[in-house]
Amino acid sequence: MIKVLFVCLGNICRSPMAEAVFRHQLVLQGLDNKMQADSAGTGDWHIGHAPHEGTRKILDEQNVGYDGMKARQVEQADLNAFDYIVCMDRKNLKDARQMLGNPSLSEGKLVTFMDFLPEEEIRDVPDPYYTGNFEEVFRLVEAGCERIIQSITKQEGGRL
Ligand code: 4NP
Repeated sequence: MIKVLFVCLGNICRSPMAEAVFRHQLVLQGLDNKMQADSAGTGDWHIGHAPHEGTRKILDEQNVGYDGMKARQVEQADLNAFDYIVCMDRKNLKDARQMLGNPSLSEGKLVTFMDFLPEEEIRDVPDPYYTGNFEEVFRLVEAGCERIIQSITKQEGGRL
């Protein structure tokens, strides 16, 4: 099983959206027995909370499930537990790197979500907690998750 962790600030808007969409795409592609996803936040304000209503609304509209998802904070054990740690923006990457320690290991394992969408000008997934634009985030998340699955499939080859 290849394990992917999505990381944002609050773990209620962007990273749970990515987790839900990634999982949905895995099922559609018959890859849910090969890869799995989780999400976490660098902040602790929303621990135990369900996804934000804006994230829930767009996931409902798109028929993407998010049952039982609850926010949690990044923890040190995540560094060994996950194969890929995908941070929604560059600040999340910097903070997660500090929280996870072990710079030599985290160097290669931590990436940003927008690394997978090089054709886009923006390098951070905008935070809809502040912008209110959950549609824009969904568009990026959908495209990025497809690329991540492609990239892992290519990279892991024989392991899958
Ligand atoms: P997220 O958005 O990082 O995409 O989950 C945020 C959610 C909550 C807060 C900030 C960003 N907050 O400050 O509570």
